[in-house]
Amino acid sequence: MKRVPVILYGAGGVGSALLRQIVYGRDWMASRNNCHFVVISVTDSKTWQWAVGGLSDEQLLDIVAAKGQGLPVDPQWRGQAVAEMQRPSDHGVLDAASEAELENVMIIDVTAADGMESVLKRSINLGYSVVLANKKPLAAPWARAMGFFNHARVRHESTVGGGQPIIATLRYLLDTNDPIYQIEGQMSGTMGYICQRMEAGVAFSTAVQEAKNSGYTEPDPRDDLGGMDAMRKLLILGRMAGWPLEESAIAVESLYTPEMAMLGVPEFMSAITQLDERMQARVAAARANGEALRYVAEVNEQGGAVGLKAVPAGSALANLKYISFRTDRYHDEPLLIGGKGAGVEMTAAGVMGDMLALVREVY
Ligand SMILES: NC(=O)c1ccc[n+]([C@@H]2O[C@H](COP(=O)([O-])OP(=O)(O)OC[C@H]3O[C@@H](n4cnc5c(N)ncnc54)[C@H](OP(=O)(O)O)[C@@H]3O)[C@@H](O)[C@H]2O)c1
Repeated sequence: MKRVPVILYGAGGVGSALLRQIVYGRDWMASRNNCHFVVISVTDSKTWQWAVGGLSDEQLLDIVAAKGQGLPVDPQWRGQAVAEMQRPSDHGVLDAASEAELENVMIIDVTAADGMESVLKRSINLGYSVVLANKKPLAAPWARAMGFFNHARVRHESTVGGGQPIIATLRYLLDTNDPIYQIEGQMSGTMGYICQRMEAGVAFSTAVQEAKNSGYTEPDPRDDLGGMDAMRKLLILGRMAGWPLEESAIAVESLYTPEMAMLGVPEFMSAITQLDERMQARVAAARANGEALRYVAEVNEQGGAVGLKAVPAGSALANLKYISFRTDRYHDEPLLIGGKGAGVEMTAAGVMGDMLALVREVY
């Protein structure tokens, strides 16, 4: 049985789902994959737990329960003021692993943190493998991000499309020497929902409020409406396709005005009613041409764009589920990948799939 040491950065929705899948999937992992994940460390933004022999399943499930109640990973800080909480730095966690002379560690980044690149790069240099659901290191300036692409010990299926095999498909196309010409799709479930509701006659501001109430948006909906998350996914796909694009090569249409960036969330939610009429006119203009308004992401070797676009009604792009690859082989009819959008369980399953692929190929 392969015993694989794991260090988990991030214990939010995806991190907790992954811990549940590790604990409850032990028998399956053993019989099907001949492996046992030994979780050495779990880290949230303020605290950590560490055990060189591995945290017990009871400890891991306790972490899941605590995070579900908004409590820190480390029991000793529960009930204490946030300002008092402490843990080693993100690099300090790696120091602990290398001082313990751990080998072949699997580093999992399921944070949404900026600046993880140096931690991940050092992990690779230590001979560890890396799995990310965090898009930011892969969408960082190319000079910082390039080492993570096409590296045998780095996987990141869940950065685009949750657990859907988008990255795996791209990898297969590249491996079999099928050059990629164009990638298109709806890269944001939240934007897809808002477009669909507007098409059903709901005002833009109401659609945003509905999405917020249903938990489809980040707590501040501007994090979705600004288009940066969709831009990062597009940049990751473009870079994988072999185009070393920078963020500046992707035009991003934000669905709110620059003045609205300065408002508090409640004021913002009121202010967006000013945009209802303009949005309604765009939906109506598309419909009059037999088209549907969608928040589309498209990229090719020259660059790309994310923003609202009228696309033929009934086309793959108008169907909210698909990402399409136009390649040398799939030229006249692009290859479509689609399915249910991301959620924490599917995203965590994508991370788990990457972990198992690394176990098979590297361990
Ligand atoms: N949710 C989805 O469906 C989905 C789909 C695809 C990709 N993703 C990506 O997956 C990642 C995680 O998503 P999520 O929904 O689980 O987010 P989340 O609930 O906000 O969880 C993020 C976790 O990271 C922790 N964290 C922040 N900075 C950290 C640091 N420097 N070191 C260690 N931990 C740190 C946070 O700590 P605290 O708990 O202390 O705040 C929290 O536990 C994000 O990058 C997201 O874009 C998510």
